[in-house]
Amino acid sequence: MKDWPYPRLVAHRGGGSLAPENTLAAIRLGQSLGYRAHEFDVKLSKDDVAILLHDATLERTTSGKGRAADMNWEALKGLDAGAWHSPEFRGEPLATFEGAAKLLNSKDTMAHIEIKPTPGLDAATGTRVALLTRELFKDAPVKPLFSSFSFQALMAAKAAAPEIPRGWLTKEFADEDWLRLEELEAVSMHTSYKTFPAQRIPELQGRGYRVLLYTVNEASIAEKILAAGADGIFTDNLKEFAERFPQLV
Ligand code: G3P
Ligand code: MG
Repeated sequence: MKDWPYPRLVAHRGGGSLAPENTLAAIRLGQSLGYRAHEFDVKLSKDDVAILLHDATLERTTSGKGRAADMNWEALKGLDAGAWHSPEFRGEPLATFEGAAKLLNSKDTMAHIEIKPTPGLDAATGTRVALLTRELFKDAPVKPLFSSFSFQALMAAKAAAPEIPRGWLTKEFADEDWLRLEELEAVSMHTSYKTFPAQRIPELQGRGYRVLLYTVNEASIAEKILAAGADGIFTDNLKEFAERFPQLV
C-alpha cells in the first residue's frame, strides 16, 4: 500500500452535525475541534463554479429551490445555507470549492473531496474539479484525496489530474468493484460500515487498497472498526470522537 498521510478520523461534510453541512462554518468548526481532514461534496453551478453541496437540489440545505446546476453562481451566492440547521448559522452562504480550499490550506488541513456530480454532468464535473484541485492545492503539503460514487467522474478526474489520488466510493462493495479499483488506479475503497464487514478490511489492504468507512457516529462502533484496521472513518459526531480518540484526528 502507498503511504497514507491522512488522519484516521475525517470530519464528514465539513463539520459533521454541529454546523450546516458543506459550509465554511462547518469546516471552521471541525478545525476548531482539532480535525485535520475534512470530507465535503462538490458539484457545479450552471456557469461551472464548483460549489459545496450534497444534494442535486437546493431545498434541503438552502433557501433556494431546484437544481444548483440550473443556476449561475451570481444567484446561488445569495442563498442562505445555514438557517435550516439552526438560528445561530442563519445567513451562512453556500461555499465555493475555492473558498473551502483556501480555508483548509490556511490551517494546513486536508481535503477529502467527494466529487458529487449532478446526474448527467459526471465527466464535466470530474474534469473541472480535478483541474481546480491541481491549482488550488498546488502548495499543499498533502494532496487531497478524490472520491466519488460516479465512476465516470473519477475517470475524468484521473485523465485531467492523474497525480491526485483517487478512492472508489461504493454503497456496497461487490466483486465488480475490484475492476473499478484497478481501472481507476485507486489508492482506497470507501464504503458504508453498514454493508461492509470489518473482517474484510485486511483482504482489501492485502491487495493494496486503504479502506475508509462512512458514516460512523457511535463511538463503540468506531472502536471496533478501528481495531479491525480501517484506515479512515467519516464521522458527524465530531466532538465526542475528538475527545475519545484525540490521537486520530
Ligand atoms: O464520502 C463518504 C460519504 O460522504 C458518502 O456519502 O452521501 O454523505 O456523501 P454522502
Ligand atoms: Mg460525501
